[in-house]
Amino acid sequence: MTQPDKTMVVTGATGAIGKAIARQLAASLDNVVVLVGRDERKTAHATDEIRHQTGNQNVRYELADLSRLESVRALGKRLDSPVRVLINNAAIAPRTRQQTPEGLELQFATNIMSYVWMTLELRDKLRADSMSRIVNVASYWAGDLDVDDLEFKRRRYNNGAAYRQSKQANRTLTVALSERLASDGIAVFACHPGDVNSKLSNDLGFGGSESPDQGARTPVWLATADFGLERSGRYFEHEREVSCPFGRDRAAVEALYRACMACAG
Ligand SMILES: NC(=O)c1ccc[n+]([C@@H]2O[C@H](COP(=O)([O-])OP(=O)(O)OC[C@H]3O[C@@H](n4cnc5c(N)ncnc54)[C@H](OP(=O)(O)O)[C@@H]3O)[C@@H](O)[C@H]2O)c1
Repeated sequence: MTQPDKTMVVTGATGAIGKAIARQLAASLDNVVVLVGRDERKTAHATDEIRHQTGNQNVRYELADLSRLESVRALGKRLDSPVRVLINNAAIAPRTRQQTPEGLELQFATNIMSYVWMTLELRDKLRADSMSRIVNVASYWAGDLDVDDLEFKRRRYNNGAAYRQSKQANRTLTVALSERLASDGIAVFACHPGDVNSKLSNDLGFGGSESPDQGARTPVWLATADFGLERSGRYFEHEREVSCPFGRDRAAVEALYRACMACAG
């Protein structure tokens, strides 16, 4: 019997969409699925539930506070190589402006920088797998990016604006990172998952008309698609490629990449 060799790492795996993504990936028994959460009780419970539902015993969890670089670095060291898929999915939308102990605005740290930190931390492990890819869970609800005020120091903080900025940033950075990771053979995709009732959507004042499983469909499709580098940097909705204006703004792509790399340690 061959050992499962496709390791897939899912952040925000205790949330509505992340847990459904992890479950759908675990349904293929040759996948090793690593749920990344920050709350041990919730993350262990989600892991047990998915093992039980799928019968896949190669489902496990790791803990990390993704808003903190040191925690992401420690997580990176604990993960085995190779990693085939990284799904950056964790996000928040706090109603008031908050800061990490390191002084970063919390939505910027979690929704934008954790995607970058995870990418850089796992780069070598992803490079070691010939089919590797990163799926950045973004949103069609995106805009308001101000590269000169990413942390709402000059603008009045509003969780909707900060969230929309972060989702535009996910899509913009997908282009920047796809160009830099192509030589390592790593494809990078961005997508809208679906409109799903969750803590995050509730904090933004929305409900959601789709189930978590529907929301997981496009990220899972990208994680397992038979295309790779030839479509790297692209944006997808409902399992289809959609033209994205953000990646065409070259000045914004480079300015955002530079600003994020300045926070990348
Ligand atoms: N829901 C929608 O309608 C919708 C629409 C478009 C895009 N999206 C995108 O889909 C993704 C998932 O959203 P969701 O609706 O499933 O949200 P959710 O249910 O609120 O889940 C968010 C996840 O992120 C985790 N998380 C937050 N801060 C973290 C930190 N510092 N360290 C580690 N984990 C952290 C949460 O952990 P805890 O469980 O411990 O809080 C949770 O697992 C997000 O990227 C979001 O932007 C969602």
